[in-house]
Amino acid sequence: MSHAWSPESWRSKPIQQQPVYPDLAHLQRVEQTLAGYPPLVFAGEARELRRQFAEVTQGRAFLLQGGDCAESFAEFSTLKIRDTFKVLLQMAIVMTFAAGCPVVKVGRMAGQFAKPRSANDETIDGVTLPAYRGDIVNGIDFDEKSRVPDPERLLQAYHQATASLNLLRAFAQGGFADLHQVHQWNLDFIANSALGEKYSQLADRIDETLAFMRACGMDGAAQVRETNFFTAHEALLLGYEQAFVRKDSLTGGWYDCSAHMLWIGDRTRQLDGAHVEFLRGVGNPIGVKVGPSMDPDELIRLIDILNPDNDPGRLNLIVRMGADKVEAHFPRLLRKVQSEGKQVLWSSDPMHGNTIKASSGYKTRDFAQILSEVKQFFAVHQAEGTYAGGIHIEMTGQNVTECIGGARPITEAGLSDRYHTHCDPRMNADQSLELAFMIAETLKQVRR
Ligand code: PEP
Ligand code: CO
Repeated sequence: MSHAWSPESWRSKPIQQQPVYPDLAHLQRVEQTLAGYPPLVFAGEARELRRQFAEVTQGRAFLLQGGDCAESFAEFSTLKIRDTFKVLLQMAIVMTFAAGCPVVKVGRMAGQFAKPRSANDETIDGVTLPAYRGDIVNGIDFDEKSRVPDPERLLQAYHQATASLNLLRAFAQGGFADLHQVHQWNLDFIANSALGEKYSQLADRIDETLAFMRACGMDGAAQVRETNFFTAHEALLLGYEQAFVRKDSLTGGWYDCSAHMLWIGDRTRQLDGAHVEFLRGVGNPIGVKVGPSMDPDELIRLIDILNPDNDPGRLNLIVRMGADKVEAHFPRLLRKVQSEGKQVLWSSDPMHGNTIKASSGYKTRDFAQILSEVKQFFAVHQAEGTYAGGIHIEMTGQNVTECIGGARPITEAGLSDRYHTHCDPRMNADQSLELAFMIAETLKQVRR
């Protein structure tokens, strides 16, 4: 792709999954306002994440990416952010301590609002309305007024993302993530479960290790007292993303400063499309979802567009096949990328290929299928001699009943108890921890 890139060059390309705003002048005014606001992240932070991604790509660390499918305006609270952050810290420490592997932590948080949809409309009882596209676009309630895309929502999303990121930064660096707090990260409702107990035992061992380090005068390091936490979301609404493109004063390069990392969804990764065009020009680390319809040659062309310098920190391929499709689709993609010598960070999204409808009508995922997809992802890498670098999951610190199964099993009949997601079903803290322990075991073997 030889033509010049600019922050608006995507506007001349075919684009998928955009809302139809009734008042374009209103949209433009809001986008201009956003462009004048402070960005959420600084380019140097995005470069630091690229450096850490390169460590993962080269097999020296593991990437943990997780959070809501869609953040919502109604569910915006300190407790929700804190509890999701706690579970991510728990998962990361399980992997770090049990497998001796550094973990790069990235939240699907502080900006994960816009949703691609499989249909433009939704019909209930003979009434057809535009589909819900995330709180940044329209309202989830099934009435005409809510479903009209409203540009003012872009401003609300920005302010919520800003406040969320502010809190996350405070938690990461203000003492909450201090390893001495490792017991406090266990949430009350899992403390008495088998997983909570297993976690407490691990936390006891960390306490012992810290006591030993203290006795040796070695526990004052910043690595013990604070952590790095990064944010990411799907770069779907390109008008919003463009408003945060800034030229870095240090390097002169362009960055999308709405989050540290941005990814392209499985529905918007067309080689000649607007989303690929937009993200190829910003210096952030970027991801692309890779689903079962991806062709090996197409993948190579996509890699060449998005990572022409073959930089190991630039590109995260997020594989989301479905447990019953990994075998059929993933090995040939992996082999092709290997044979072409492409350096990419491979991670597994075991959520989006495993969505089913329960007999009660709820959209759900079976935890057994989620585990199975991750296990197969590791097994394929092991067979090919490549490195399974990370996971990308939908989870929450709330005690929800959205995915069936797990050590404290949620049944189809139990889904209705606490089903709160605004889009896809998320793992709760128990299920997330169970996954983390399984991965820690696998990583321990891989890294031996
Ligand atoms: C998502 O991550 O919420 C999503 C929509 O994923 P995908 O593009 O892989 O379907
Ligand atoms: Co989702």
